Order: sequence, then C-alpha cells, then structure tokens
Amino acid sequence: MTLILGIETSCDETAAAVVADGRTVWSSVVSSQVDLHARFGGVVPEVASRAHVELITPVIAEALVEAGVELSDLDAVAACHGPGLAGALLVGVAAAKALALAAGLPYVGVNHLEAHLHAAWLEEPDLEPPLAVLIVSGGHTMTVVMEDHGRYRVVGETVDDAAGEAFDKVARHLGLGYPGGPAIDRLARDGDPAAVRFPRAMPGEADFSFAGLKTAVVNHTRRAPDTPLADVAASFQEAVVDQLVTKLVAAADDAGAPVLALGGGVAANTRLRARVAEAAAASNRSVFLPPPSLCTDNGAMIAATAWWRLRADGPTPLDAGADPNLRLV
Ligand code: KG4
Ligand code: ZN
Repeated sequence: MTLILGIETSCDETAAAVVADGRTVWSSVVSSQVDLHARFGGVVPEVASRAHVELITPVIAEALVEAGVELSDLDAVAACHGPGLAGALLVGVAAAKALALAAGLPYVGVNHLEAHLHAAWLEEPDLEPPLAVLIVSGGHTMTVVMEDHGRYRVVGETVDDAAGEAFDKVARHLGLGYPGGPAIDRLARDGDPAAVRFPRAMPGEADFSFAGLKTAVVNHTRRAPDTPLADVAASFQEAVVDQLVTKLVAAADDAGAPVLALGGGVAANTRLRARVAEAAAASNRSVFLPPPSLCTDNGAMIAATAWWRLRADGPTPLDAGADPNLRLV
C-alpha cells in the first residue's frame, strides 16, 4: 500500500489529505477562506497567500492526526503546482518540498486540472477510462476526453469567462453575495427556468462562452426590473447548464466515451447534476457525479493524482517550481 499526503493551495482553499493507493481517503481537511474574501466580492490573491501561510501547518497537522499517521508512515508528499495563483501555489509547494526533504520522501508536483479529473476514483475505485469529463470551476471550463491516466484530450474550452465566474458575476449583479454559485443554485429552486430565454452561446461548437450571457442578464434586469429574482436565477442557470450538458454529450459522442463525469466547483450545482444524469440515461451511458466535497478544491484529489503520477513518471525534482499557467496537456 502507498500512502500519500496531498496539499492544495492554488486558490482560496487551504487543504491537505492522506490517501491510500490513489483511491481510499484516510483524511481530508479543507479550510475555506470564503469569509475572508466575501467582503471583496472575489478572491484577493495577496490575502489568499497570507491566509495559506497561516493555515498550512495546522491543516497538514490535522490531516495527519485524522488519518492516524505520522510523517514516517507516508510514502510521498504531493502538492498542486499549477495552474492557480502564483503566491498561493508557492505556499503549498514549499510546504510539501520541506516535508519531503525533512522526512526523506519523494515529492510529487500535481496539475490541478488533472487532479479534478482524478477525483472520480476516490468515489468509484473501479472506474475504467475512457471518460468524457466536464471540468467546471471558477477558473476553468473545459470538456476533456480522458483516454487513460495521463492521456487527455481537451475537446472544448471557454473562450471568455469560466462558468463559475459567470455564476459569481451574475450573483453579484443580483445582489446575492459571494460565492455566487451556491446562492444562485439555492434561489433557482424557487424559480421558473423557462421564464426568460437567455442565449445559449456558440451552438454546434465545442468551445464555450459565457460573457454574453452575463451581459444578457444585466440587460434583462434593467429592461424588466419586475421579473422575480428567482426566475432570473433559474433562467440564467438553465442557460449555463444547457450549454455545459450539450457540449459534454457532444464530446462523449465524438470520442465514443461510455462514461460521463464532472469535476470542479460548479459540478456541485444541483441542476447541472440532474441534467447530466438525465443526459447519461438518455444516451445509455453511465455517469459519475462526485460528491460536492470532492468537486470543490481539496487535497484528496491531489494525493490521488500523485499516486498515478508517481507510478508513471517517478518523483518531481525538488528544484521544480510552481507554474500559475500550467496547462492540462
Ligand atoms: O473548483 P473551485 O472550488 O475553485 C476553483 O478552482 O475555481 O470552484 C469554485 C467555483 C465558484 O465560482 C463557485 O461559485 C462555484 O464554483 N460553485 C457553484 C456551486 N458551488 C460552487 N456554482 C454553481 N452551483 C453551485 N452549487
Ligand atoms: Zn479547482
């Protein structure tokens, strides 16, 4: 058995977890900085870095205690080394390298996007590629065909805003606070998704676009200020989800992938989960919807991915840095 400590500090979650053989979560500690950033209406990079510095040691200690292990029981220490906020990434990478050096363990640098793809194995250990995966978060929106562990093909990407960014911007416009995704998700349950027909961008294409949709919502609320907020929220959410589901299914068709999966913070969205499940049933595919705690950023997905990476490529050199713009392929 191989035990790996995984550390995640790419954005506003300070997280650490211990995972066995890339599949079994022994512990997972996530300290969210949401309250710190809420008053600014979004993540402030410098505030995030400072908070990571304060939180990283207690979060790692808690992950070890919760797993009932000591540093000497581990086989490797991993950290997310990109993409993400430069200063934030460096905190996790430095912590992982220091622990690896002190304990004489291999260090593994993990790609954040590859980690979102691997969250699936934490819930479904016997899952077999190929998978068509939709990664949707505050920073990314892409469809990926995962042919095998380490073999990925990006089918479509957003040309402007990420889906989570659209949720956050529209929520701010509607006065719903930050983060906007969960707020819109909740409010939309009382609304009519067919009340307003917002645009579905770039039909028939693999890439995504959400900037025009945000503008359409702003224009609508100015033109028809009496539309109930819940109807606006539900209609906006439906337009986002329509675009996401249509393009995920098209990517799966194109690749002949028999499994659909979701990853990233927006994958916690109730309506998206329901629609992806329906689409899978309608096309005779199986579907994997990670629980919300594995969709949003966490250390377990980092530790899980490190297990596959370590087997395929071996450890990462200690002089490797962080790359804020790291790509999946
Ligand atoms: O993956 P994540 O935790 O961090 C990034 O890597 O960005 O994703 C955060 C994003 C935010 O934009 C947040 O509004 C969105 O995920 N989000 C949701 C929901 N929960 C979180 N969006 C829609 N519905 C939700 N329930
Ligand atoms: Zn993420």
